[in-house]
Amino acid sequence: MAASMPLFLSGIMIFSISLYLLHKRLQAEMGTTHQHQLRNLTILLWHWPFSRPYSLEGDVCSNEYGIPGCLLSDNTSLYPQADVVVFHHHELRTGRSALPLHLPRPASQRWLWLSLEPPVNNGNLTQYKGLFNWTMSYRADADVPMPYGKTVEVLVPPNSSSYVIPKKGACLASWVVSNYSPDHARSQVYQSLRKYIPIEVYGRWLKRPLTDQSLIPTIGRCNFYLAFENSVAIDYITEKLWRNAYQAGAVPVVLGPSRSNYEALVPSGSFIHVSDFSSTERLAAFLQQLATDRGRYEAYFKWRQTHEIKTYTDWRERLCNICINYHRLPAKKVYYDLDGWANR
Ligand SMILES: *[C@@H]1O[C@H](CO)[C@@H](O)[C@H](O)[C@H]1NC(C)=O
Ligand SMILES: *[C@@H]1O[C@H](CO)[C@@H](O)[C@H](O)[C@H]1NC(C)=O
Ligand SMILES: *[C@@H]1O[C@H](CO)[C@@H](O)[C@H](O)[C@H]1NC(C)=O
Ligand SMILES: *[C@@H]1O[C@H](CO)[C@@H](O)[C@H](O)[C@H]1NC(C)=O
Ligand SMILES: *[C@@H]1O[C@H](CO)[C@@H](O)[C@H](O)[C@H]1NC(C)=O
Repeated sequence: MAASMPLFLSGIMIFSISLYLLHKRLQAEMGTTHQHQLRNLTILLWHWPFSRPYSLEGDVCSNEYGIPGCLLSDNTSLYPQADVVVFHHHELRTGRSALPLHLPRPASQRWLWLSLEPPVNNGNLTQYKGLFNWTMSYRADADVPMPYGKTVEVLVPPNSSSYVIPKKGACLASWVVSNYSPDHARSQVYQSLRKYIPIEVYGRWLKRPLTDQSLIPTIGRCNFYLAFENSVAIDYITEKLWRNAYQAGAVPVVLGPSRSNYEALVPSGSFIHVSDFSSTERLAAFLQQLATDRGRYEAYFKWRQTHEIKTYTDWRERLCNICINYHRLPAKKVYYDLDGWANR
């Protein structure tokens, strides 16, 4: 009895120690996962894009976009705590003096350069060598890719898609253009194409603006929409395609990056690429023929059975997206040649 006592006690001790260690380990593990989930990231927007502020009342990312742990602020006093400071290119007109280069930069803070404009609008970026850590752009290879739109798979069983192609009127093709410049590649294609087919033109150029409410139904009556980009650049596919054509329900005739670039970013079989035709006369003949062949025309909408369109239009949603990407992005990165990256 006396001899077994210490054995019994040490048994209890070993058991208690193991329990204690297990408890500590669990605590440590839960602590780190909790920390990972509960630490709020602070995204500080240094200037509002195009000087148009939006409300940041409440927890916008969580409440509006279902992205928790992501606090947006435009209060520059929060600079020392900010995890990411966002600089929108258009507000850097005064150059480096628009940046807080006089403030010490916390070691883990990232500066993000944001531009959704094509190279032609960015200008010379050589003065920003070695200042930014991350980029946000429509480009798929940006740290935070922010396209104008994308397709998302619909989580409904096949055949239950309720997509209905809008009823087509007498309109064969339409185009909305505000900033018309005869130098744009798109203007030359339009001027040539209109010799062969009627094209309804809207927008500020011809002083026929459409309201937000009338845009979609007006375009939707037409079989085709000229989704012509004002600038031809890699991945530069704007709301002209996502909203004006796809959301309106008109088959887009695209002019922009190469066909293979479109195929990487939009549903194949959903668009007509200008460069597939050796002349605008041939393109015009193709459109006229396709409009009369309902079976072939409707095949351009096949993707609608499984996918829908998601467009990004609100700067706050774009900024909240930084948090989704934050943990997968390189911890240490510097754009030593921002101009070379952005303007290639
Ligand atoms: C994160 O922000 C939310 C919303 O402001 C707040 O309720 C929560 O307490 C914050 N969490 C931490 C760990 O600071
Ligand atoms: C900005 O943040 C500072 C520091 O937290 C605070 O004192 C100040 O009231 C804030 N300003 C605004 C306009 O919210
Ligand atoms: C861009 O600006 C730098 C100096 O700021 C100049 O050396 C360079 O030639 C410019 N590049 C172009 C393409 O204008
Ligand atoms: C779904 O569509 C396919 C092909 O059109 C058809 O064969 C099938 O019967 C449909 N299923 C249902 C449940 O309607
Ligand atoms: C961010 O860029 C700055 C400026 O080049 C650099 O000093 C800093 O180390 C970078 N930070 C990270 C976390 O990559």
